[in-house]
Amino acid sequence: MAPTSLSPATVEVLDRIEHLFQLSNDRLIDITRQFVEDYNLGLGEYNKAMAMIPTFVTGVPDGSEKGTFLALDLGGTNLRVCEVTLHGDKTFTLRQQKYKVSEELKTGEATRLFDYLADSVDAFLTEMGHEVTDVEALHLGLTFSFPVEQSALDKGVLLTWTKGFAARNAIGKDVVKLLQDAFDRKHLHVRCCALVNDTVGALLSRAYTSGGCFLGAIFGTGTNGAYVEDISKIKKLGDSTSLLGMSKMVVNTEWGAFNNSRSVLPSTPFDNKLDRESINPRFQAYEKFISGMYLGEITRNLLLNLVDASPPILFNGNSTPILNSHYGFDTAYMSDVENASNLDEVQKVIVERVGFKPEDVSLDDAKIVKWACHLVAARAAKLSGCAVASVLIQTGLAKLGGGSSSGDERFSVGVDGSLIQHYPNFEDGLRASLRVLVGSDVESRVDIGLAKDGSGVGAALCALQAVKQEKTLERALQDTSLG
Ligand code: BGC
Repeated sequence: MAPTSLSPATVEVLDRIEHLFQLSNDRLIDITRQFVEDYNLGLGEYNKAMAMIPTFVTGVPDGSEKGTFLALDLGGTNLRVCEVTLHGDKTFTLRQQKYKVSEELKTGEATRLFDYLADSVDAFLTEMGHEVTDVEALHLGLTFSFPVEQSALDKGVLLTWTKGFAARNAIGKDVVKLLQDAFDRKHLHVRCCALVNDTVGALLSRAYTSGGCFLGAIFGTGTNGAYVEDISKIKKLGDSTSLLGMSKMVVNTEWGAFNNSRSVLPSTPFDNKLDRESINPRFQAYEKFISGMYLGEITRNLLLNLVDASPPILFNGNSTPILNSHYGFDTAYMSDVENASNLDEVQKVIVERVGFKPEDVSLDDAKIVKWACHLVAARAAKLSGCAVASVLIQTGLAKLGGGSSSGDERFSVGVDGSLIQHYPNFEDGLRASLRVLVGSDVESRVDIGLAKDGSGVGAALCALQAVKQEKTLERALQDTSLG
């Protein structure tokens, strides 16, 4: 509800805006139904908007895995290099270093970006005092959190960039090769043997530490989910499935691209403006409603609309350079606003973060900013519930509208990302829509747990899987030549 202590004319304007952000239960159900439909389209054919990428990961860990691997993680806020040791008892140790990725690297020539990745691994190894022996190369798992169409555990071409990346000459190329070439140019004795999306990393690492997991999901700078699917339902794999002799495979949904046509997503003029001015208009529609990269910008569009209203509704018609700049209002500010315990604190956040003078921010302004942040974030949390519900339904664990397959089974979701971890009440909002979509009983059996260091541990687990597969293959080849 718009704050009622404001003038009736202001309340009327805010109510009209609020109406645009509302999501009825029926709408949530329609969105979720569409999700399931799109999953099946994507499982059936390549080149669908919902990519439903087979990952060639055919099992989830049980905590007994052992080994030390390097992991490189690109696609979140920072670039990270880690060394992960899996102890085989559901625990691990991790040493890591974060590196910044400049806007120039994100949007320049791809080889420069990949050279920078190799330089970072080099710097990390030096810092950790690593001796790279000539005998065996260090094995590295690459967590690459963009849509990549995989054709093997260590092969995959980039379909498109997301989250503000636009490096030239990378789309359509094998990212493992791009990285390996960069290592080779530097004569680094490191071999990239596995490629993994961060959602797959979250799924695997949660399974490693807690013994089971059906969905790995990211609600951070971007959003996406990966789940365990029956291979028989991944029709687009065709006959190659029989070669694997396996029954399950992890699928990276790339749900950020859900409903790019926006036929069921409730677009407001503030969303449309964001999309039009983004570097990938008409793509990643769902991600643009949900994720940390965009929520601040939707809110900024809304706030500026109120500043520009005639007569002005906010800040007396004034703005600041921060509020005027594209992506100037960070989603973290929204979190600060919503965390503030009273309006004086909200005022303080606005002054400190947005650059207003204290005397230019009234308590009414603070009220309206808090209302706007809540409106945008609550819609994101509710919409996030649709994605989680749709995977429960797709995997037969729940039915749309309520009811599940069995009595007291628990459903473990491994999550990561700034929103789910830090945004006030994000999980509550997600759960509220889960209750609408799959019923209270199922919702109460969904365990949402942090996939701690998911990108690093997941990449290590995948690298381990790859090394094991190679050894099995080598043995099989030896047997054949001996025989
Ligand atoms: C990417 C996904 C990734 C997600 C979360 C999206 O923009 O397309 O591959 O999993 O962000 O990082």
